[in-house]
Amino acid sequence: MQNNQKIIAIFGAGGFVGKHLMRQITKLDYRVKVATRKPYLKGYLKPLGNPGQIELIKTNIFNIENVKTVLNNCDYAINLIGILYETRKQKFSQIHSEFPYLLSNLCNEMGIKKLVHVSALGIKDRHISKYMQSKLQGEKNIQETFGSSVILRPSVIFGPEDKFFNTFASIAQFSPAIPLIGDGKTKFAPIYVGDVAKAITKSLELKNSETKIYELGGPENYSFRELMEILMSEIKKKRLLLNIPFNIAKFQSYFLQLLPKPLLTPDQVDLLKYNNIVSGNYPELSDLGITGTSIKTILPKYIYRFRTGGQFN
Ligand SMILES: NC(=O)c1ccc[n+]([C@@H]2O[C@H](COP(=O)([O-])OP(=O)(O)OC[C@H]3O[C@@H](n4cnc5c(N)ncnc54)[C@H](OP(=O)(O)O)[C@@H]3O)[C@@H](O)[C@H]2O)c1
Repeated sequence: MQNNQKIIAIFGAGGFVGKHLMRQITKLDYRVKVATRKPYLKGYLKPLGNPGQIELIKTNIFNIENVKTVLNNCDYAINLIGILYETRKQKFSQIHSEFPYLLSNLCNEMGIKKLVHVSALGIKDRHISKYMQSKLQGEKNIQETFGSSVILRPSVIFGPEDKFFNTFASIAQFSPAIPLIGDGKTKFAPIYVGDVAKAITKSLELKNSETKIYELGGPENYSFRELMEILMSEIKKKRLLLNIPFNIAKFQSYFLQLLPKPLLTPDQVDLLKYNNIVSGNYPELSDLGITGTSIKTILPKYIYRFRTGGQFN
């Protein structure tokens, strides 16, 4: 490998995608600067590279000098920062729109060769969800500011530590029923976290002077109900799959959003009103030379812990 002189700045590397991406990046011999709010809690990233290959830098992403320190001497930048719900301190517009604007401006100023930004599948003009509106604005901000960028729009991402299957498998531990919001009809194209990580590393080397957008979906589309059926069969639990119309789910979400880690927010109900599958209007995973991995090969490898009796049952 010839990348040992190339340095990548990664924002949000301590999250789910970041952890899986890190090993692929370090195997390719890149050096990595990780921007994080809490370096002392991200020590688990260091063993994913050789000694000295990964540097953790305490960063306030809205402090220009902090972000410049991370980008200094870097060849590439990757943005994985995202939130699923708003809090009093963190708003979608700040995290998904303003930070990409700041980052792409600084990438321009500091001569970064490529910015890979992870957005979300299902973005469209006039989406009713605030999450999607903020993601779309973030993409526009990057497109207008920094030509040499790649925007990746993944569908729901699965793999060890994912929030999707692990959350519903946890609910099945104590609840006799699994709620199917909107009657479970919303379609998804679940994509394996390892494939998203590959797409990010391949994007780094793309030769483009204009922003390229890729829609990333896995090899099969499933309705939400089908995904819950697969999950219940994998964890060997029989649970009632309970249809909940959107208006009732919306009402419930006003209460569920008050939990310290909200189980459901009104904005997430709005998100579920749209299918989350590739549109065919943009290049896809296969255009990056990647063959998508099926849920059925990966899910059994990590979800068994929710079976009564565990792995050998
Ligand atoms: N997971 C999915 O199913 C999915 C689907 C579609 C799109 N995406 C997008 O893919 C990207 C990565 O997702 P993920 O699942 O890896 O998310 P994640 O596990 O929640 O990690 C998100 C990262 O964002 C960082 N972050 C959040 N708020 C921040 C703030 N105020 N300042 C600095 N950093 C902040 C956190 O960094 P630190 O804690 O290290 O500071 C964390 O490492 C996100 O943009 C997400 O929207 C994910």
